[in-house]
Amino acid sequence: MSGELLTYVVGRAQGGLEIGKTVDLFRRYAYIEHSCVRALAGWFLKNPDWETKIVLGYALFAHSERLYELHGRLEEMRGGNRNANLEPELDRFGEEILHAPDKEGFTAGLILVLHRLEAAYREHLDATDASANALEIRMLRRLLQDVAQEIADLEKLGHTEPSGAQNREATRAWACYLDSLLRVTGGIGGMQPREGGAVSRPVESIRFEWPMSIHFDERLQTAEMGTYESKKSLPLRERCIGEFEVYFNEFYAAAQLATVIYESWKLNAPRQYFMDIAHHFWDEVRHAEFGAIRLRELGREPNKINMVLFEQSRNMPLLHRLCYLTLGLEVFFMPRKSERVRYYEQQRDFRSQLLADVDWSDEVNHVRYGKRWIEYFLQDDARTVEDVQTEISNYLAEFQQNMPDGRKAPW
Ligand SMILES: [Fe+2]
Ligand SMILES: [Fe+2]
Repeated sequence: MSGELLTYVVGRAQGGLEIGKTVDLFRRYAYIEHSCVRALAGWFLKNPDWETKIVLGYALFAHSERLYELHGRLEEMRGGNRNANLEPELDRFGEEILHAPDKEGFTAGLILVLHRLEAAYREHLDATDASANALEIRMLRRLLQDVAQEIADLEKLGHTEPSGAQNREATRAWACYLDSLLRVTGGIGGMQPREGGAVSRPVESIRFEWPMSIHFDERLQTAEMGTYESKKSLPLRERCIGEFEVYFNEFYAAAQLATVIYESWKLNAPRQYFMDIAHHFWDEVRHAEFGAIRLRELGREPNKINMVLFEQSRNMPLLHRLCYLTLGLEVFFMPRKSERVRYYEQQRDFRSQLLADVDWSDEVNHVRYGKRWIEYFLQDDARTVEDVQTEISNYLAEFQQNMPDGRKAPW
């Protein structure tokens, strides 16, 4: 925004923002934050660089937290149904954030959106009344700080200045295109004069294709992870390396959640659902990061990956995918978690113990999320959780039959 909101407040001599205007603005902010969550889920899978995936994972959670806060205030103000109140041109802008021509374009586009959000939150703050809008003031201050941090983190990726001149031009064109779309819908807050005329995409032919697999660059090769039991007889260092390779492989769980987040985009669900799936996703990203951190501390570079657990669930409906992860895999792996923590403690390897302990604690929450949301989605459904688990077994059997020779699940 560029002064229109202040002009509005001054023009009405009301000294702050009334509920109707606040709701209208918050719905728009929330929609744009959510558009970024969905786009980040897509690029998390598609960007082949695993370090960048981790940065994108942190960014996804930051957007989700802001979305959760905005939704919370919207509920208090009886903000209505977001999707029923969506302006088509704002919708188009939100959709397009995803369809960047390449990973550099995506990061540049996201940074542009963040700068526009930052300006909108700042102007909103300037237009508030210290007492009447006290709640929004506290929230917007937190949001502003968080957005600034995210911009700094993304700028470190260096994607905004790719090496090739041609690529740089494409990146710039993409950011300009997003900005033009925003101007058509009157800016983030919708209060700027709307620019008419058609806006055409700079890269006509490219649309984001939702990947059926997670992409990794050549540094990571698909390999077996070895069984859990086989690692128990190894000396501390070797066992530690083997187990932290398994943590690193939790990219598979993050990938499963990325697909759930993407497909939940316009699902009618409580705000807590969107928070929980984003939290779950981010935890798995961090668990993969734990793996990378500890492996490097032990002088090893992550070099293998096994995505079969992700691939075998890729064709299941969202409900089954979520159920398979939270009430199948995570319940199955749970007994190992406490055992690992105890083992590292006995060995006085407190660094490994710290990471294993946090992972264990997070995993307990994941099963809790699973129980809550599977139950929610099965309301008005004749099936029980057990019925869904039987259906999952059928999907898995079908996948197993069609699996390329010699490939096995990584445990
Ligand atoms: Fe995990
Ligand atoms: Fe988990």
